[in-house]
Parts: sequence; structure tokens; C-alpha cells
Amino acid sequence: MIREVYSTRTLEGCRLLVAEDADEAASLAASIVEATLSEAASPVLGVATGATPLLTYEMLVRRGLSSHDLRLVLLDEYIGLAPNDERGFAATIQRQLASPLGISPDRVHAPPVSRTLTSARCEGFEREVRILDGVDLQILGIGQNGHIAFNEPGSAFDSRTRAVLLSPLTKQNNCSMFGGSDDVPERACTQGIGTILEARRLLLLATGAQKAAILARALFGSIDPAVPASAIRLHPDVVVVADTEAARLLPATA
Ligand code: GLP
Repeated sequence: MIREVYSTRTLEGCRLLVAEDADEAASLAASIVEATLSEAASPVLGVATGATPLLTYEMLVRRGLSSHDLRLVLLDEYIGLAPNDERGFAATIQRQLASPLGISPDRVHAPPVSRTLTSARCEGFEREVRILDGVDLQILGIGQNGHIAFNEPGSAFDSRTRAVLLSPLTKQNNCSMFGGSDDVPERACTQGIGTILEARRLLLLATGAQKAAILARALFGSIDPAVPASAIRLHPDVVVVADTEAARLLPATA
């Protein structure tokens, strides 16, 4: 059963949907993706990596999301991995979503990752996305420290695509594909918060008890760069889909 929790002033512009469990959240998220993209002339889906959106991607593949003309834009990518490294986000999205949907790599757009990343290359990526007429729907996860993409706490709300250093917690949380957190690359290239906020609609997914505290802070705490995900409340069209566990610390009636 989905509970729709409409917002008070704090959550203006933001629909909060609470699903029973992660499966139901994924099913709901997949429906939102389908509905949003079906209205777009040349659909562009912004994709996040991490464990959270995986079930949603599986659902989209199972339902046979129409991929005619669909383009995917990645939020971030590690710096320093070989181009075809399976642990990279581009390879991950290719495996989890693009290949099963029949989307060729040239229709998947990822931030640049050369070790000597220049601002011109980062601006080039942003231009590439603008030429696609921007992102129709951006899927977001939330890090346990409130990061979105790889915008760590303290990232400016008007930040753009750039190289960043990953925090020890983020490296720890992303080490499953690596031997240990020491083997996770130190740096990544990420869309900035300002870049992300330009997507026409945002869909933030949060599942599991480990996301409960940060989700409550992001949605009901102050809108502050200390919690990068709180920036989504500045966007006029946001849907947050959480499962009961992640929603556990949210006010009972928002
Ligand atoms: C990574 C990604 C984020 C993602 C976050 C949460 O750091 N760069 O885009 O949202 O992890 O991941 P998970 O869904 O595995 O908790």
C-alpha cells in the first residue's frame, strides 16, 4: 500500500510517497519513470548508480520500458579507472539498464574522467546535456551523509560538473565492487548540485533503515549545503519515494 504524504510548507513542491517495502517502492518509481518519459518528445533519463535504484532498473527492464530514442545521462563517474572497468558507473549502467533495454553506448552520456580533468571538459559535458535539451527525469539516491551524486556535504547549491575528492564514508559505502575502501578511487567527476537541479523532474529514492536519519534531515531539516540532498526542496517538481524503513523517522503526518 502506498501512503501519499502531502507536504506542509517545508516540503512545498515535493511529493512524498511511502511504499511498504523496497519492491513496492521500485514498482512505484518505475511507474513514475514510465509516465514522465512517455510525455517527453526525445526522452532523457538521468540515472544514479548504487544499490537503491537497482530494483527500479530491473522493474523497468522487466516491463520493457520503451527505449526508442531514449538517452541516459549519468550523474557521476570515478576518476582513474580504465575506460571499460566493470566497476565504473558507465559500465554499471550499461550492464544494469542500457544493454538490457537495447540502448547503445553512444546514447549513454557520462561525465568526463581523465586524470587531468579540465573545467573545459566538464563544461563540455554540460553542453552535451543541454544539446539533448536537458534531463526530463533525474533519478537520485541519497548517501548516508546526505550526498547526492558525489556532491559531498559542503558542496555549493550552485555547483557545476567538476572533479571532487570522495569522503572516507563514501569510499566505505562504495567499496563492495572494490577490495576494500582503500581501493576505491580517491576522486570522481560529478554533476554539481546546480546541474542536477536543472533536470525538469527529480525522483529521489530512499530504502532501508540506514537511510532513515539522513532522509528526515534532508526533507525536514534546514536547507543547507551540510546536507546536499536538502537542495532538492528548492526544485519545483520533486517526487520522493521511500519505503517504510527509510520513512521511519519522518514526521507522522507531514
Ligand atoms: C554513491 C553514488 C550516488 C548514490 C549513493 C547512494 O555515492 N554516487 O549517486 O546515490 O552512492 O548509494 P546506495 O543507493 O548504494 O546507498
